[in-house]
Amino acid sequence: MSRQFEGRVAAVTGGANGIGKAIALAFAAEGAALAIMDREEGPLQETAEEARRCGANVLALAGDMTDKRVVADNFARVKAELGPVDMLTNNIGQTARENYSEFYLAKPETLEFVIDVSLMTTLMCSRQVVSDMRERRRGKIVSISSDSAMNGDIGTVDYAAAKSGVLGFTRALARELGPFKVNVNAVCPGPTNTRAMQRIPRDAYERAKNMIPLGELSEPEDIANAVIFLSSEKARFITGQTLMVNGGRVFY
Ligand SMILES: NC(=O)c1ccc[n+]([C@@H]2O[C@H](COP(=O)([O-])OP(=O)(O)OC[C@H]3O[C@@H](n4cnc5c(N)ncnc54)[C@H](O)[C@@H]3O)[C@@H](O)[C@H]2O)c1
Repeated sequence: MSRQFEGRVAAVTGGANGIGKAIALAFAAEGAALAIMDREEGPLQETAEEARRCGANVLALAGDMTDKRVVADNFARVKAELGPVDMLTNNIGQTARENYSEFYLAKPETLEFVIDVSLMTTLMCSRQVVSDMRERRRGKIVSISSDSAMNGDIGTVDYAAAKSGVLGFTRALARELGPFKVNVNAVCPGPTNTRAMQRIPRDAYERAKNMIPLGELSEPEDIANAVIFLSSEKARFITGQTLMVNGGRVFY
């Protein structure tokens, strides 16, 4: 293992489970000091322990990141205890899940919830790190969108809107921060083997699988590999881009 991020600070939102956990552990394995922010205290502590076993200095911060005060407090602690963030992964996001419906039936509070969790967290967390990145003239921001932003899956109007918003955010911020040598990119997973996918009915799971040319769902580690690449110096000339990691379900 290269430990290419020795001396660097990584922050991963929603890093306790699923894709975020794989990203957090990959940063730890590559030598980064790591802040993991998540609202699920138990899995958060377990992931933090696992990352520490890779030798990482880990700060585990619990709380609901749709709350702007929690966001501000968490990032203030990261800066005080680990130093300014070099690499931010905006991973928090979800569909309406049990409140999923076609748009004509959607409740306003569900639409608001999905936009808040799947788009606003990305803006609010990024806002916490950009001033230092500009000043230090270095930094990497990678946000997890979804190929639903392009595919427009039925019943996910709110989620597709939020995840498309993440892509627009990525492009505009890449232009603002380019002169400061800060890279801003997005990764679009397709259906990935996390608990959300494991909970759906077997026939829906099979249908999702059959839509993927490579014939299987991605693993969280597939997404983590893309994030690690875009956060690395090997990707120094890539900014404002959207990388699809979806087995070819949607081309972009
Ligand atoms: N799993 C998929 O098939 C898939 C496909 C495309 C995109 N994505 C995107 O990938 C990202 C991760 O998805 P996942 O499947 O690993 O989800 P997950 O539910 O397994 O993990 C998400 C993590 O974020 C945390 N979280 C959620 N809301 C939070 C909040 N308000 N405050 C703090 N922590 C919060 C959860 O506690 C959890 O640990 C999401 O943005 C999701 O939209 C997932």
